Amino acid sequence: MKFITVDTYAELSRKAANLIAAQILSKPECVLGLATGSTPIGTYDNLTKMYEEGDLDFSTVTSVNLDEYVGLDGSNDQSYRWFMNHHLFDRVNIDKANTSVPGGTVSDLAAEGAAYDAKIKALGGIDLQLLGIGLDGHIGFNEPDTRFIAETHEVELHPSTIEANARFFNDISEVPTKAITMGMGAIMQAKKVLLIANGPKKKEIVEKAFFGPITPEVPASILQLHPDVTVIYSIND
Ligand code: PGA
Repeated sequence: MKFITVDTYAELSRKAANLIAAQILSKPECVLGLATGSTPIGTYDNLTKMYEEGDLDFSTVTSVNLDEYVGLDGSNDQSYRWFMNHHLFDRVNIDKANTSVPGGTVSDLAAEGAAYDAKIKALGGIDLQLLGIGLDGHIGFNEPDTRFIAETHEVELHPSTIEANARFFNDISEVPTKAITMGMGAIMQAKKVLLIANGPKKKEIVEKAFFGPITPEVPASILQLHPDVTVIYSIND
C-alpha cells in the first residue's frame, strides 16, 4: 500500500486527478471505476480542467460506478447518475453510452446486480477503481457487516450513512434507506485502487481501515489485502 498524506483538499484532488490521468494516458481504452460523494468532486474538477486544456481525452474510456440509491432514477438530482453527469460526464468527451451506474429503480435488484457484475466481467474488469470512505468505513455502499459480500447487491444503509448523507437532502426523511452497490469482488479485482479521504473527520476511520485488523465491521480494511492500493489522505478539509 502506498499511503500519501497531503495538507490540503486541493492537493489531494490534484494528485488523485493526476493518477487517473496517468491511467487514461497509459491505456486510453481503460475501464475506470468511479465514485460519488463530496470527496471526489475536486478530482473531477481537475480532470475536467485537463480535458478543457486538451491534455486528456475520454473518448475511449469506459466507466462503471460503485452504487446508486434504490428508488431514485437518473433525472433525480440526488441520484448518483445525476451526480456523475453533473460533475464529470457532461463536462468531458466521454461517450455516455460507455458509462454505467447500477439501476436504482429496477424491479429486480438481484437481477440488476448479477447483470452489473457480468458487464464488469465482460469489460475485462476495472483498471483503476476510485473510492471514498464513509465514516463507518464503507466503500461504495458496502456497509459494516458480519461478512464481506462479493457481488453487486442491495443494501440497507447504516444509520450513520443516512445521517451523513442527509446534508444533501432537504430533510433526513428524504434520504433513501436502501442502495445497490458493487460488492467487494469487483473492487478487489480492480487492477489498481485509489482511495481518497479528506480532513480530520476521516482520520480515525482511515487509521482503523488501513492500520487496524481486517474485518467486515470496517469494510475498507479488506483493501489491506489488495496488491496495488494508493491512499491519499488530506490532513485539512
Ligand atoms: P464523502 O463520502 O466523500 O461525501 O465523505 C464518502 C463515502 O461515503 O464513500
